[in-house]
Amino acid sequence: LIPKTLEWKNDALYLLDQTRLPLEEVELRCGTVAEVVSAIKCLAVRGAPAIGVAGAYGVAIAALNDPASVVSAIKDLAASRPTAVNLFWALEKMTLLHRAGATPAELLVAAQEIEADDRERCRLIGEHGAALLPDEATVITHCNAGALATAGIGTALAVIYRAVELGKRIKVYADETRPLLQGARITAWELQRSGVDVTLITDGMAAAVMKRRRVDAVITGADRIAANGDAANKIGTYGLAVAARHHGIPFYIAAPFSTFDAKTAHGEAIPIEERDPSEVTEGFGRRTAPPGIAVFNPAFDVTPADLIRSFITERGVFPATREALAKAMAER
Ligand code: MRU
Repeated sequence: LIPKTLEWKNDALYLLDQTRLPLEEVELRCGTVAEVVSAIKCLAVRGAPAIGVAGAYGVAIAALNDPASVVSAIKDLAASRPTAVNLFWALEKMTLLHRAGATPAELLVAAQEIEADDRERCRLIGEHGAALLPDEATVITHCNAGALATAGIGTALAVIYRAVELGKRIKVYADETRPLLQGARITAWELQRSGVDVTLITDGMAAAVMKRRRVDAVITGADRIAANGDAANKIGTYGLAVAARHHGIPFYIAAPFSTFDAKTAHGEAIPIEERDPSEVTEGFGRRTAPPGIAVFNPAFDVTPADLIRSFITERGVFPATREALAKAMAER
């Protein structure tokens, strides 16, 4: 029942079009690089690991269609969205193979390997994270760090899926996630159809839920984790981490190593995507703000390392310190 984010079939990449969820399950065929770039930009495919996998397939598509177009395709893919480092991680792998003379067929195999590898990382994140949760636990999550953000069972939600599978009684509060409602449209949808006990709340309710009800953990994904442990994730994550600290609730980030960026020293240096004001003023086609109003619409924020209890990764759980990160990266 866990949905499939993307699939290579015959000669093209097929995505579950996430802009149509939760009301319609529609497949989107990407047979050109332009189609992959546009799917990433409009969030038909989204979530850091999934963007990376889609980017890798984009390079393979370029090579299969016209081997001479690979370099410019990589440039176009890299310009699609700036924050999730998984995209640049995957493009770098593909670039190195291309430079080493990989054939189009070999580039396709490499993309398929990146996909399979992500699936396995998700499974391991679930395994390590589930062990952290007590037999009965209530968890708040933000945005969608689920199956639909990866090629596998997700990152934050992998922890939930695995804990439930182990027989733990897990209740999830899913933040709606303004302005594009990934929590309501995607997390609530994917957890509900998988039979997980999920309750939808608006972003502004999270602190009150922490105060009034028992909450054992906050678990989110990340789009890029800097060398000092500062972590960028969907806008609203920082506020959630501040509220968790105030209420003495551990705040965890679940992410694969493809999300860790040793080249970015700290959170201030993470590029934060700003999106169209219309997402805030007329989301989903209905104007909800006065015409001409000034809007600030960053898609991500940065949670400082000191608010993060630990990182849940495919290689285990470790604290959000520069030392622990450097050690974990060196083990690669
Ligand atoms: O704008 P989105 O929907 O791509 O943002 C996604 C998130 O912020 C996720 O939490 C993050 O990519 C981690 S997904 C495992």
